[in-house]
This record gives sequence, C-alpha cells and structure tokens, in this order.
Amino acid sequence: MTKKENKESFTSSFGVLAATLGSSVGLGNIWRFPYLTGMNGGASFLVIYIFATLLVGLPIMISEIMMGREARRDAITATRLLGPPKHPWWLLGFLGVLSSFLILTFYTGVAGWVFSYAARSVTGYISTSSSLEEAQIAFQSLTNNPFQVLAWQLVVMICIGAVLIMGVTQGIESVSKKLMPVLFLLLLIICGRSITLPGAAKGLHFLFSPDFMKVNTGSVLAALSLAFFKLSIGMGVMVTYGSYFRDDQNIPRTALKVMCADLLVSMLAGIAIFPAVFAFDFAPESGPSLLFVTIPMIFSNMAFGQIFMGIFFILTSIAALGAMISLLETSVSSVMGYFGKTRACSTLLVIVPLMFVGGGCALSESWTANMRILGMNLFDFSDFITSKVFMPTVGILTCIFVGWVMDVSRIKLSLNNKGAINNEVITNIILFALRFLSPTLTLCIMLKGLNVI
Ligand code: PHE
Repeated sequence: MTKKENKESFTSSFGVLAATLGSSVGLGNIWRFPYLTGMNGGASFLVIYIFATLLVGLPIMISEIMMGREARRDAITATRLLGPPKHPWWLLGFLGVLSSFLILTFYTGVAGWVFSYAARSVTGYISTSSSLEEAQIAFQSLTNNPFQVLAWQLVVMICIGAVLIMGVTQGIESVSKKLMPVLFLLLLIICGRSITLPGAAKGLHFLFSPDFMKVNTGSVLAALSLAFFKLSIGMGVMVTYGSYFRDDQNIPRTALKVMCADLLVSMLAGIAIFPAVFAFDFAPESGPSLLFVTIPMIFSNMAFGQIFMGIFFILTSIAALGAMISLLETSVSSVMGYFGKTRACSTLLVIVPLMFVGGGCALSESWTANMRILGMNLFDFSDFITSKVFMPTVGILTCIFVGWVMDVSRIKLSLNNKGAINNEVITNIILFALRFLSPTLTLCIMLKGLNVI
C-alpha cells in the first residue's frame, strides 16, 4: 500500500466549483427533481427540500469534503487514516466506494440510452415518432436490443474513462470547466422554447404553486432522499473530490454554492420540461418514461422540434457525464491508492469489471431478464441496494464518524482553514447537525425506503 499523498488537485476556485457541481448535477436534476416537486405540492415541496438539504445534505457534504482534504487520499485510505488506530472505520470508505461502483453499473446504462437519443435526434431518427405508441416502440426497440444497449454503454464508459486517464487537472477539472457553462446555456435555450409554447402557464403552475394538501410525511422523506442523491453524498464521491480541494478553499461556502447552483439547474430543468408537457396535454407523473417517451414525442410535435430535441439530449448527456466522472474517479483513486498503480492502469482495472457487471444490468430487459436477486432484475437490484441501503448507511456512519469519532479540534481547524477564515458558528451548527439531527433523519429515510416504517 502506498503512503503517498495525492499529488493531483484542482487548480482554481472555478475549477473546484465546476467539478463539484458537475458531480451533483445529473439525471436527478432532469427528471427526478421536477417530477417529485410537481407531485408533492410544488413550492411547498421546494421549501421542504431546501430545509432537508440544509439540515441533512449540506452537513454531510461538508464533512465528506473535509475528510478528503484532511487526508488527501482516496476514500478508503482517508477513513482509515482519520479514525483511531486499529479500528475498522476503513469499512465506511469501502462501502462508499463499492456503492459508487454499483451506481455506475446502472447509471452508465441509462446514460447510454441518453447518448443514443442524442445521436438519434441529431440524425433525425426520432423525429418520426409523432405518436405516443411510436415513441414507446422506439424506446423499447432500444432497450430490448442487447447489441445497441451494450454498444452505447461502451461509448459512455470510453468517454468517462478517457477523461479520467487525462488526470484530475487536465481531465476532470478542465472538462467540467467547459461543460458546466455549456449545460447552463443549453438549458436556458430549452427553457425559452418551453415557456413560449401556448398553454405553458399550466406547467409553471404545476411546478411552483404551493399546495400544502399534497404535503405529507412521504413528501418529507422524498425530499430527504432527493437531497442525498442530488448532492452526491454517501458514496465516497465527495471524500474523493475533497482530496483535490485547495488548502485555501472555503469548504462550507463552496458546498453552499454547489447546493444553490444545483438547485438552479433543477428548477431550470423543471421550467424546461413541464410547460411543454402541459402544453401538449401529457401526464407529468410518468417517471423514467417521461425522459425517453413523453419528451421525444413532445419535441416531435413542435416547430423546429428536432433541433430542440438534439439540444435537450445533449444537455442531458452532459449532466450525466459529470456525475459518472465523479463516480468512476472514486473507484479509480481507491485502486491507485491501494495498489499503487498508474492512473491509466487503475482506470482499466475498474472499467473492465464495470463492463461485465454494467453490461449485465443494461441487459435486464433482454439476455439477463431471468436473473433475479431478491425478486428484482439486476438493474433494479443495483438501484435498490445503492439508493435504499448503502447510501443512507454510509450517510449515517459518516455522521457518527465525524460527529463522534474524529478529533473535534481537527475538524474545527480544517473548516476554518487553520484560522485563516472564520467559520466558527457554522462549524458548531454542522457538528450539532451531524451528531443528532442528520443521522436520525437519515435513519428515517432508510427505514421508510425499506418499508419498515
Ligand atoms: N448527483 C447525481 C445526480 O443527480 C447522482 C450521483 C449520486 C452522482 C451519487 C454521484 C454520486 O444525478
């Protein structure tokens, strides 16, 4: 095992922000956030989501980044070094890395569909699907075709692998700095198109008008688990990125900026999608098929739809890319840290098994349809085990680790940049949240997700 510190790091404040935002912006913004907001009372859900993020998501995100920067190592080594000697806390890091790998097994599959739709809309193939049935058939013809599914998943893996091989500064930071502004620009173009459609006001009403009758305990738990997924916490991802943060970076302030920018992307995505959904009289609650059936259909029916559809799927591909880069980097940096291999070799060591496990998940509608774990196909099982079990478990353990196990003076020094900045009050609030509030609420999400409560 190497004892070397990470030599690579993000070089500028904008680079730190772009890369961290690149990780939190993802498929979660494009359909999960707007859909949950619409179904759970619009603006009232938004308020609950902001509270959930501030009380649970942000303290854990700040802790994870702080752990990474303190240790300047991969997620597994970081938990081993920061805990007391001879204690099994490295298992927390290991669980996070395992879970980021498992998320990739299905995320790369879905991203493959998105890439395929981006290519199809540019070449004009989807513009023929002007009825819902045709759009449904077009989607099924993709998911049921094992060769296409695997080929697109491979394209996705090659793209993220290539970025990682270029390194933290030349690859992750530089790519994120270019992609994030493009993402905002494309999103604004689609928003402009969507809100100028006749009947668009109904969509904005669905998204933003507060309806407290729709708020219940289910909404609160949905907001909490969305906060986890959105901020990329409970996966070792933020520990890994934290190890590339500069010493003079204000961690709480950066995390807050990422949270606000991510919220803005989610709201813009909602503004881009729902006015169009309502303008064409479609159901807003169609879940995953909203992205691959309803949206292509809507674009097919509007003037210059093909261009806008191309833009939409390119922006969705960009969003998914940043999230996947951070997930892959978590495993790659752990392999580099543990085996002392080069970046290129470690990337291959992760990507090859990922191709097999990810391929198995991506073929859940075809070749592996009969393979079941706990009654679920491989795709659903990976999703279930990561989001319902691993993510909250790592979240709770991180709260216990930072709140109760780690040396408090070390945490205070770190969050105040050794006295260079004054985050005293914020640090005390974060410590209080980590010790009591965040683990309790996270335990509730976990038990609710497993149908125990
Ligand atoms: N935050 C990403 C999204 O919203 C997903 C993600 C989760 C990425 C966990 C990294 C780690 O799509």
